[in-house]
Amino acid sequence: MSSTLVIHAHPRPGQSVVTQALFDALAPMDNTALRSLYSLYPDFDIDVAAEQEALSRASLIIWLAPVHWYSVPALMKHWIDQVLAHGWAYGGDAHALRGKSAWWVASAGGTEAMYAPGGAHMRPFADFVAPIEHTARFCGMHWLPPFVVHGGHSCSAQQLAEARAKLVEQFTGHQRTTLKTLEAQP
Ligand SMILES: Cc1cc2nc3c(=O)[nH]c(=O)nc-3n(C[C@H](O)[C@H](O)[C@H](O)COP(=O)(O)O)c2cc1C
Repeated sequence: MSSTLVIHAHPRPGQSVVTQALFDALAPMDNTALRSLYSLYPDFDIDVAAEQEALSRASLIIWLAPVHWYSVPALMKHWIDQVLAHGWAYGGDAHALRGKSAWWVASAGGTEAMYAPGGAHMRPFADFVAPIEHTARFCGMHWLPPFVVHGGHSCSAQQLAEARAKLVEQFTGHQRTTLKTLEAQP
C-alpha cells in the first residue's frame, strides 16, 4: 500500500472536537504518518528539510485542519509558504511533489445552508477551495475533492461517528487509487 502523510494543524488541539475526531480516525490507518504542526512548531519555526523529507516519502498527502477565515490556520499557511519552496516544489525543473495526491480534510463551523446564496457565507464552500486547490495543482499534484464536515460547532456524536466512517471509507479508496496510479507509472 502506498504511504500517506497527514499534515494536521489545530491551534488549540485540546479544544478541538471535529478535527480531533478526524485525526483519531486517520491515526491508526496503515502506512500513514502524522505530523501535528502546532505540536512540532509552537514557535512557528518550521524545520523545512524535515517536512520536505516527510513529503518525499508519501504519495497521498492530507491537509487536515479547521477552516479559519475561509482558508487553513496560520501555521498551515506558513508551512505552505516555507515548505513548498521554489526550486523544490515548483520553478525551473523542480517537481518534488509532482504526481502525488493532495486531499484537504476540513472542519467548518458554517453549516451547508450557511454556505449558500442567502446564507451567512453567501457562497458554496467550493468557491473557497480554489487557493488551496491551485497551490497543489501548481506543484503538479493530483487534487482530490475536499472532505468537509460542516456545522462543526454543533455536531452530534452520531454525526461525528458518521463523518469518521465516511472519511475512513474515502481514505481507503484514495490510498488504493494512489497505489494503482503509481504502479501504472513507467
Ligand atoms: C480564527 C477562526 C476563524 C474561523 N473561520 C471560519 C470560517 O471562515 N468558516 C467557517 O465555516 N468556520 C470558521 N471558523 C470555525 C471553525 O472552522 C470551527 O470552530 C472548527 O471547524 C470546529 O472544529 P474543531 O472542533 O476541530 O475546532 C473559524 C474559527 C476560528 C477560531
